[in-house]
Amino acid sequence: MKITFLGHAVFLIETNKKILIDPFITGNPAFPKDFSFDKIDYILVTHGHGDHIGDTVDLSKKYNATVVSNFEICNYLQKKGVNKVHPMHIGGSFNFEFGKLKMTPALHGSGIIEGDNIIYGGNPGGFVIYSEKSVYHAGDTGLTKDMELLRGVDVAILPIGGNFVMDVEDALKAVEMIKPKLVIPMHYNTWDIINADEEKFKNGSKQLGVKCIILKPGESVEV
Ligand code: NI
Ligand code: MN
Repeated sequence: MKITFLGHAVFLIETNKKILIDPFITGNPAFPKDFSFDKIDYILVTHGHGDHIGDTVDLSKKYNATVVSNFEICNYLQKKGVNKVHPMHIGGSFNFEFGKLKMTPALHGSGIIEGDNIIYGGNPGGFVIYSEKSVYHAGDTGLTKDMELLRGVDVAILPIGGNFVMDVEDALKAVEMIKPKLVIPMHYNTWDIINADEEKFKNGSKQLGVKCIILKPGESVEV
């Protein structure tokens, strides 16, 4: 299983299928300039904010990818011409071709900003992919005790940038609760408002007995 970080909260997970999470590409200052997709089978969208829905509409049409998100966002995307959607909701799971996918809660918002309007985007979430390994992508979230329920996942991808989401200190409390085999930080340093010290996070994880890999945009890890 290969995990590639594409800047901000964008991750490409490759198992027997290519799964792209929160495809914020246009306008993402952290997206690796030379990166291009050959194939996308699934697009997972954690919530309705622009830095997560991103290029979902265009990419799903271009690659004929199935979009998985909450019911409200799937409904919104269908109105934008996305044909293949699979609505889920918090706490639900479904067996896809790549394995089981579960939607987890997130403490955040999910409104879709369109011009002067805010469209209701349901509840924000995260995902756990149970394929060769289990991978938790937290989405945008504050610290929550619910994360204890995720104890034992192989890989946890956690936001550390603060302001809108957990900061390093809170993300370390999440690491302590989840105790994954590997943790990867995300959602930091894209803009100044979410600057974070990723080395401090790495060292803190190590002290908790959890391996942390800091991926630069474009870098991958095999798990
Ligand atoms: Ni957000
Ligand atoms: Mn965000």
